[in-house]
Amino acid sequence: MSSNIVAILYLLSALLFIFALRGLSHPESSRLGNIFGIIGMIIAVITTLMFKSVLSYTEIGIAIFIGGSIGTFIAFKIEMTALPQLVAAFHSLVGLAAVFVAAAAFYDPSSFNIGEIGSIKKSSLIEMSIGTFIGAITFSGSVLAFGKLQGTISGKPIVFKFQHFINLLIFILIVFLIIYFVFDQGPSIFWSIVLISILLGILVVLPIGGADMPVVVSMLNSYSGWAACGIGFTLSNNLLIITGALVGASGAILSYIMSKGMNRSIINVVLGGFGGEQSIDNSEQSEDKIIKQGSAEDAAYIMKNAESVIIVPGYGMAVAQAQHALREMADLLKQEGIKVRYAIHPVAGRMPGHMNVLLAEANVPYEEVLELDEINPDFPMNEVSFVIGANDVTNPAAKTDQSSPIYGMPILDVEKSQTVLFVKRSMATGYSGVDNELFYRDNTTMLFGDAKKMCENIVKELGK
Ligand code: TAP
Repeated sequence: MSSNIVAILYLLSALLFIFALRGLSHPESSRLGNIFGIIGMIIAVITTLMFKSVLSYTEIGIAIFIGGSIGTFIAFKIEMTALPQLVAAFHSLVGLAAVFVAAAAFYDPSSFNIGEIGSIKKSSLIEMSIGTFIGAITFSGSVLAFGKLQGTISGKPIVFKFQHFINLLIFILIVFLIIYFVFDQGPSIFWSIVLISILLGILVVLPIGGADMPVVVSMLNSYSGWAACGIGFTLSNNLLIITGALVGASGAILSYIMSKGMNRSIINVVLGGFGGEQSIDNSEQSEDKIIKQGSAEDAAYIMKNAESVIIVPGYGMAVAQAQHALREMADLLKQEGIKVRYAIHPVAGRMPGHMNVLLAEANVPYEEVLELDEINPDFPMNEVSFVIGANDVTNPAAKTDQSSPIYGMPILDVEKSQTVLFVKRSMATGYSGVDNELFYRDNTTMLFGDAKKMCENIVKELGK
């Protein structure tokens, strides 16, 4: 295939990837975005396979079959709630691939047109070693992130004295090794860069607490993009450079948005050692406080007699897979002429867009789903807030209690509604481990039970 045609097809793929990202920025256009991404990737893969330099289609075919089968199997099996650790696991593979490609180029430079063993072009050595460095950090950091999210390793931040200083020294050592490698080209230096970068990846993620892990996963996503970008330079593949940069930049933006949604500074998250699992013991202060408890029948009655209901979903809705029963409940309320809307907090659930995906799966109309800034001014005029499996994202302590770990996090102002109904199984805290004073307010009624069961029971009551 002529290089001009390759350039045009690669440009087309790159454009499709940009359209894909654009589409994914809104639930309504996300399916189309996905299709653009798939077409872009098919064009990219076929174009690459047409290269004269491809030696064996059999080996590539076998690799695609094995990788594709494993991917398909995982996609069917994976639970929604386990997606963050799956993403972390996949990122580790991107990092590892970057290291392997760099190693392949280092040991067989002539195949990559970057010189001969012992006399590789300096520019290629720089690209190769930086790609290796980012790839190795991404690999070990992601493996550790996977372990923390999966629960195989404690999610608590592991901190020790002079941690940041030691990391800085290791980073300086790696920079020194990269410079040395560019002049020396020795295999031992190459593998030293790999091993020390792996160590740095572990040390960087070790002090980060469970609460910040999703931001870290998103950061590692960004690193994996830059690692792919580095491979693109090694392979002189423009599309890989562009795609890597797109992933790198979008991952970085997403990390920033998530940190903002949790009111955490990104530097603070990256340096780690803050925001672990703070389980605050609220038992004493909670014991003498009074709560009002209700049933599905009460909830149905209250909502049936309201003019407007705002549904606030959270992590518990995802755990219970209550979205379908919830939509059924909302449909019945709408049939009664009640205005129903959904309020989505940017970090409700455990991953970006968690609630949007679940509501879209249950065919909730997009125009009823509103973001925090859009819906917050409406709470004072709203009659009933139906909080289902959400906790932290409604906690007013974020606005008032400076000592609270969630202080400063923007929250949904549900307490300003006339009545708040809280669906959850117990008085347990949410992710941040902080008690929610809303449970004890006069205008709050607790509806204890599994979110799905509760919605199903309310549906039954509404149908009576
Ligand atoms: P949480 O504050 O974690 O509260 C979820 C509540 O759901 C819990 O209090 C739990 O109470 C209840 N629950 C669990 N299973 C349930 C079930 N089967 N039925 C009914 N209720 C159930 O959730 P949230 O309000 O969505 O806030 C998200 C938290 O995660 C925030 O602190 C946020 O910072 C953090 N976080 C989010 C992200 C992203 S990107 N979304 C990333 C990192 C961290 P019971 O046990 O009493 O039922």
